[in-house]
Amino acid sequence: MHLKTFLTFVGLLSPALAQRIVPGAYIVEIKGTNTNGFLNKARTNGVKVRHRMTLNQETSIFNGVSFDLEDDTPENRAKINSWGEVVELSPVRLYDAAAPIAQHVTRDVTKLMNKRAGGPLDNYPPHVQGGVNRLHAEGLDGKGIKIAVIDTGIDYTHPSLGGKFGPGNKVAFGLDLVGDRYNGQNTPVPKDDPIDCAGHGTHVAGIIAAVDKDFIGVAPEVTLGAYKVFGCPSVSVGNDVLISAFLQAQADGADLITASIGGPSGWTEDPWAKVVTRIVDAGTPCSIAAGNEGAEGLFYASGAADAIGAIGVGSVNNLNSPVVLTAAKFSSGDIKGKEFGYTPGTGSFGTKSYELVVPVVDGQITDACAGLPADVGDLKGKMVVIRRGTCTFESKAAAAAAKGALNVMLVNNVPGAVDVTVTAPGVSVGMVTPETGAEWVKLVGEKAAISVAFDEKAAGIIDAVPNPLSGGTMSVFSSWGPTNEMYQRPHISAPGGNILSTYPLIFGGYAVLSGTSMATPYVAGVIGLYLQKAKAEGRKVTPAELRVGLTTTGRPLVFNDGAKNSTFLAPVAQQGAGIVDAYKFIHSKTSVDTELLEFNDTQHFRESMSFKITNNGDKQATYKLTEISGATAYTTAEGSTLAKRFPPDMVESYANVKIEPDVLNIKPGQSKRVVVRLTRPDGLDASRIPVYGGWINIASNGVDRLRIPYMGVATAMNKATVINTEQGYPLLRNFKSVTAPANSTIGSRPILEWSLALGSAVVRIDVVSVSNEEANDVPVFTDNTIGSLPGFPNYWNPRTPLGPDDINRVAFTGRIVKKEGEPSVKVPAGTYKLVFRALKMTGRKHTGRDYERWVSEPFVWA
Ligand SMILES: *[C@@H]1O[C@H](CO)[C@@H](O)[C@H](O)[C@H]1NC(C)=O
Ligand SMILES: *[C@@H]1O[C@H](CO)[C@@H](O)[C@H](O)[C@H]1NC(C)=O
Ligand SMILES: *[C@@H]1O[C@H](CO)[C@@H](O)[C@H](O)[C@H]1NC(C)=O
Repeated sequence: MHLKTFLTFVGLLSPALAQRIVPGAYIVEIKGTNTNGFLNKARTNGVKVRHRMTLNQETSIFNGVSFDLEDDTPENRAKINSWGEVVELSPVRLYDAAAPIAQHVTRDVTKLMNKRAGGPLDNYPPHVQGGVNRLHAEGLDGKGIKIAVIDTGIDYTHPSLGGKFGPGNKVAFGLDLVGDRYNGQNTPVPKDDPIDCAGHGTHVAGIIAAVDKDFIGVAPEVTLGAYKVFGCPSVSVGNDVLISAFLQAQADGADLITASIGGPSGWTEDPWAKVVTRIVDAGTPCSIAAGNEGAEGLFYASGAADAIGAIGVGSVNNLNSPVVLTAAKFSSGDIKGKEFGYTPGTGSFGTKSYELVVPVVDGQITDACAGLPADVGDLKGKMVVIRRGTCTFESKAAAAAAKGALNVMLVNNVPGAVDVTVTAPGVSVGMVTPETGAEWVKLVGEKAAISVAFDEKAAGIIDAVPNPLSGGTMSVFSSWGPTNEMYQRPHISAPGGNILSTYPLIFGGYAVLSGTSMATPYVAGVIGLYLQKAKAEGRKVTPAELRVGLTTTGRPLVFNDGAKNSTFLAPVAQQGAGIVDAYKFIHSKTSVDTELLEFNDTQHFRESMSFKITNNGDKQATYKLTEISGATAYTTAEGSTLAKRFPPDMVESYANVKIEPDVLNIKPGQSKRVVVRLTRPDGLDASRIPVYGGWINIASNGVDRLRIPYMGVATAMNKATVINTEQGYPLLRNFKSVTAPANSTIGSRPILEWSLALGSAVVRIDVVSVSNEEANDVPVFTDNTIGSLPGFPNYWNPRTPLGPDDINRVAFTGRIVKKEGEPSVKVPAGTYKLVFRALKMTGRKHTGRDYERWVSEPFVWA
């Protein structure tokens, strides 16, 4: 979900807003099913359209079509909008496959996992972390459940994924909706075969359903559907394709649809998000990755995880970090050809043996930061071992080269091993784990000579190293909520950081990737196990039951900044309910009727909320209710209106929660209602948009335990600043130069640049004539204007990311629109200024004072 988009100068020559859309491409939702009739009507009315995708799968969920508008003018769009059968016309928006954060790929699958993925099958760390191993032990495996995976396709030729595609196989249904050449912008060319050429989808599929002798998925016997929505390489995907894929998967009878795809949004109004909501309402649950934009801080929810009814999934780090190493051998005395693993870096050690020199200073391998010890002698033709740390890899390489050693094996000073790059001429480097280094130090202590042998074609091996720094806590990259409408995302989190899974055979067969992309299929697999059990019991399950079950059985985690645990629990805004507990999810004998208590901001504050507890067990139970607090997180940096990048500032100031009653006796099969009254935390700086949260803990006789997450925003969001005025924006500038005043743009195109400190449901840019005041005949709240820039007002804008290149731009092309939806007209020569407005959060579209306003310098248009 990497965003590198606002920079494109889409807006320069066309009036379209420079954002993540396909210029000229639209989705239209129509009444009835006659999409061909719609296209024909366009053509006979002189609107040239080229068909992209038909978006109805004989269901009543969504009927429409996507098309390219050859003349993408406000006139043509206005014409289409005026037709009675048109429900909504919206641009095709682009989304990305959630880009993996870290990536190690094996070179050869044949010798895989001789040290396994971290232990025997039944204590594979991610499965232990989420409680899946206990369900496997009970015989649950997902058999009979169909999960549709919307992704880059699946390499079903992988032996761990069944070997074949089609009915009766593990990957039994699905299709390629786009063809290999699709890049998001061009027209999709569907074909039958959903084979993966990119990798992401195969990794996702393996997390759900791989079966290998040393590695199995969460629900190894489910049937998968592969809906390929990316080309090769995978670039991005239009929401028309995503809508089509979701509709197709629903029509194909999937029990669950999962997508590790998204993009910054935070609004539920995108057509894809709306379709997800309708599919969920019709009974098919959807799990969607919460996003990998944790670096952006709070209020950065991703679409369509933010869709109402979707299950948004965050990422927790694996307790063990599997590393993919290349195999080599060492010999010393009686030890003959013992295997070890290393990560290759710059250069290659060839297929060759070396004498290994391990300079030990004060019992430790030298870091060589002050050069290598004098007594190592000439190292020409030998391999020298140097400890990582204190100084740069470059200076270590230089120290080795100074003694004639062109082959350097670094020993990591933290668990695992990483790929190292150096530029020292002729020097090749690799890295081994601290364990391998320690083994060599021991041999040196015994005065044994060591030799190492490398093979350029050596196999990959997987080693699993503990991750004491951040294992078992939220991944730093996992996106934070809440949404712009104060709904919490993610709902639930699952192992997604440092996950080993299947990868296309052409790329080596296995890979370690990180992302909410990896956490989402984990939760999909857990749902598969739940549905299998419910089916066996003859029970029909609603999506709401799944959401409630997942969140209320989640386990809250302490906050971790990437290197160390805090003493307090991570904010609900980051972790949602916490890590999934698959065992409790499936075995809980108590249920409630709410997934999350969202108290909203101070203006829309719900002073009390209630929920119902139901005892599904066969004995009377006594429930005791208490509150557990999570940290309160500030959205903005101190003294700023802009969000603080990860980690946000956090305070241990908690809401006061009154629970009535806080002790209940409930008979089997009966329910009772509980009221929660909340007083917001004290002593907070409301201007920094504090987001508080915690859990209502429901414990019964030590048997069952549920926790309902709650959260709220301790400020009035309609007072929070939406326009970023801190970094020199908004800015009206010359097309050619950032510094030239707008006035020098006579005859060229002034460009307006802006950045949003928070999401804004409506952004308007209106034009005021300075030289001819009488021409200002269009009132816009307090301003008399001549009209709006074409393409404005623009709706459902996400917060602008904080990177230096991330900015919104639009050019003034001398045209305006008098009234929304009408054709544009030319303005006469004269002096003008632009009035930029952004609607505040929770603001009302038609109320002027709910907007922030900024006015440009006058500029001359000739
Ligand atoms: C940090 O917290 C997580 C989650 O509770 C736990 O799994 C992990 O072991 C802790 N790490 C340390 C170093 O205490
Ligand atoms: C919070 O209040 C706003 C304004 O009424 C509303 O649009 C939004 O849906 C509310 N959010 C939640 C989570 O209830
Ligand atoms: C631009 O032109 C307007 C109108 O001629 C003038 O009032 C304004 O001072 C000029 N601004 C700059 C930056 O030169």
